[in-house]
Amino acid sequence: MADEFDVAVIGAGAAGMMCAAVAGQRGRRVVLIDHAEVIGEKIRISGGGRCNFTNLGAGPTNFLSDNPHFCRSALSRYTPQDFLKLIGSYGIRWHEKHKGQLFCNESAQQIIDMLIAECDQGGVVWHQPCKVEALRPEAGRWRLETSGDAIDVAAVVIATGGLSIPKIGATDFGHRIARQLGIPLIAPRPALVPLTFDASEWAPFVPLAGASLEVDARCNDGEFREDLLFTHRGLSGPAILQISSYWQPGDSIRIDLAPGRRLDETLVQAKPGNKQHVQNVLAQYLPRRLAEAWAERHGLTGKPLADCADKALRSLANALHNWQLTPNGSEGYRKAEVTRGGIDTRALDQRTMMARAHPGLHFVGEVMDVTGWLGGYNFQWAWASGFAAGQAV
Ligand code: FDA
Repeated sequence: MADEFDVAVIGAGAAGMMCAAVAGQRGRRVVLIDHAEVIGEKIRISGGGRCNFTNLGAGPTNFLSDNPHFCRSALSRYTPQDFLKLIGSYGIRWHEKHKGQLFCNESAQQIIDMLIAECDQGGVVWHQPCKVEALRPEAGRWRLETSGDAIDVAAVVIATGGLSIPKIGATDFGHRIARQLGIPLIAPRPALVPLTFDASEWAPFVPLAGASLEVDARCNDGEFREDLLFTHRGLSGPAILQISSYWQPGDSIRIDLAPGRRLDETLVQAKPGNKQHVQNVLAQYLPRRLAEAWAERHGLTGKPLADCADKALRSLANALHNWQLTPNGSEGYRKAEVTRGGIDTRALDQRTMMARAHPGLHFVGEVMDVTGWLGGYNFQWAWASGFAAGQAV
């Protein structure tokens, strides 16, 4: 048994399957281990079942990390065009939806089937479902104790992903191994996640649940013009998911509910002789429920525009362009698309994804501190990092 395999990849998600396939097709004897009953669940549920598998514009600036240049090398060696070539060879048809985001025309299952076929082409052996109970260095190699046989390999790749959606198999395995081996971690936290507010503070906005509109949302260095969605507990929608990755507890967020307009000028200029009620004027620029709620907050409901003081209209406009609020938390890993933080990439080699202090131990995908924006970037990181390690092991 001892030298049956050269490489063990732990985690058969996007990054693990890519890595195993690339290594296998280079002639490495690869075993791919996953504890889940069903393979590729995150791919299957992604992009509303159509998998937003990459983004045409994916580059280092679309990723958050404490070590922002780390992702550069892998992203440049495996690009969205490389992935398009691969799926093209399987006849998978796709379309661009929004801002470079590419989706399957038919189903995310096609991406899973393709990755499985790529692994088969590389002669990858599957151990699944199979639990890795322990991993330790032994005589210059790596020893895995599993729920099946023990495995002894020269190289091991940890591709166990982030912590989001535990009910489909996410675990902190990669983080635990890192702690055990003294590899530093950037504190993990949910990202691409809806934000929540104190129930009493949020009460006035509960009736707006379901309303959505395009906004500019900002938090720290993050700024996105995307749709926002009001929920019963807070805010969601792409704009909020994007800035949630930049948000830390205690930070406030700023939202422009009428981006690209000057509502102050618009309202003041429309004033002379205008008998329309303020909320009806606002409803030309905002969803009606929001227009009514903001007019109410400013005590202007039912007031003809012409009767409003310029100062009151400017204050209303300013409140709409600069809505500042402080979330009390997020919906957590149950709802988060990804995990921010993870293995500190300063401990890894950027070409091979290998832990500098632990020859033969590699990390790929979301388990490490590289977090993409919403829009296909996280899968592109899975493909690119999986490819880099697959070439190196
Ligand atoms: P991934 O999570 O895919 O795989 C990890 C694997 O490791 C799993 O198969 C798991 O079972 C296994 N595993 C975990 N612990 C283990 C253990 N102890 N032993 C053995 N196996 C173990 N991204 C994007 O770019 N476009 C999109 O459209 C979406 N959509 C989306 C929707 C939803 C609902 C979520 C939750 C996430 C997304 N994402 C996304 C994010 C994307 O799914 C994610 O970043 C990648 O799947 C990460 O790939 P990995 O291979 O690193 O982990």
